Amino acid sequence: MSRVVEFAEAGGPEVLKFKNVNVPEAGPGQVRIRVKAIGLNRAESMWRENKYIEEPVKFPARLGYEAVGTVDSVGKDVTTIAVGDEVNTIPSFSMNQYGMYGEVVLAPIHAVVKHPKGLSPVEAASIWMMFITAYGALIEDAKITAQDAVVIPGASSSVGLAAIQIANSVGAKSIALTRTRAKRKQLAAAGAKYVIATEEEDWLKEIHKITGGQGARVVFDPVAGPTLSKLIKAMSFQGLLYLYGALSDQATTLPVLDLIGKIITIKGHNIWVTSGDPAHQKAAVDFVISGLEKGTLKPIIDRVFPFDKIVDAHRYLEASGQIGKIVVTI
Ligand SMILES: NC(=O)c1ccc[n+]([C@@H]2O[C@H](COP(=O)([O-])OP(=O)(O)OC[C@H]3O[C@@H](n4cnc5c(N)ncnc54)[C@H](OP(=O)(O)O)[C@@H]3O)[C@@H](O)[C@H]2O)c1
Repeated sequence: MSRVVEFAEAGGPEVLKFKNVNVPEAGPGQVRIRVKAIGLNRAESMWRENKYIEEPVKFPARLGYEAVGTVDSVGKDVTTIAVGDEVNTIPSFSMNQYGMYGEVVLAPIHAVVKHPKGLSPVEAASIWMMFITAYGALIEDAKITAQDAVVIPGASSSVGLAAIQIANSVGAKSIALTRTRAKRKQLAAAGAKYVIATEEEDWLKEIHKITGGQGARVVFDPVAGPTLSKLIKAMSFQGLLYLYGALSDQATTLPVLDLIGKIITIKGHNIWVTSGDPAHQKAAVDFVISGLEKGTLKPIIDRVFPFDKIVDAHRYLEASGQIGKIVVTI
């Protein structure tokens, strides 16, 4: 028997309930994992509230993208992973099909990678969503270089911290945006070259000052809402704005004349564009492993909760006081 987390209706953290289930042996294209740690993501709280990019098609629904553990069963056709391997899961599947919040879970083989050397289970549970999402936009698509300034709103989110590290790793100027000054010191300690508190400073002026009046070529935004307009004013000619989240609950407006005048590209972005394709996923995994080995990329864990406290862990995630990843251990 395995305890898994599910929810029978969309709602707040309290809808998450434990259930004992028999998890079958791995079927074709699957592995079964005895889980040690689970990385939490905003995506899972949005999914739980039915405010995510896809809807739960049936209830009770499962959830969870990132698990770390030991394989105890493999499908007959699986040749790359064996029983006893230490593995991690990469978000590259729908939570309508698989959910990683459980003591024992099934995972599709295309989402399973070997555990990186030298990382604890907690650290490994934190890395894939954050680094691959930022890598896909900044390295694969924007091809940032040391000449670029990269503006990173929601910088204290796990993906924002990954973007800071990735921008720094190529020598670009990382400009972290956070709403208040409360997280300024921690963001600077996490590597941000510049930190601007958007609710307390004239951030447009600051970005122009940092970029010598040119504006930033790349913006990596998980917020949208009313600040999007101002972000576009902070961009250079032919700038690229990646929109990968919708943290703001307010309407998003566009400064049409700025868009036209500067020939700005706004691109929706998600992790699947990278993790959902085997060649792109491999390139991303190699980039992350190499960065971890060189020390240019580092996991940043905010807090660890025991599995029993999954509801508290979701409440904590939604209070947005964190800097980095929230992980649950089993
Ligand atoms: N498209 C994809 O594939 C993909 C993948 C991963 C994540 N995401 C998205 O990226 C975002 C961050 O995810 P995460 O899991 O890294 O989240 P997280 O760690 O929970 O990030 C929370 C941070 O976002 C900032 N924030 C929260 N609400 C905000 C608001 N209304 N306005 C401005 N900033 C706000 C806060 O930073 P401050 O307090 O410093 O302002 C907060 O610390 C989410 O929207 C998530 O859906 C998308």
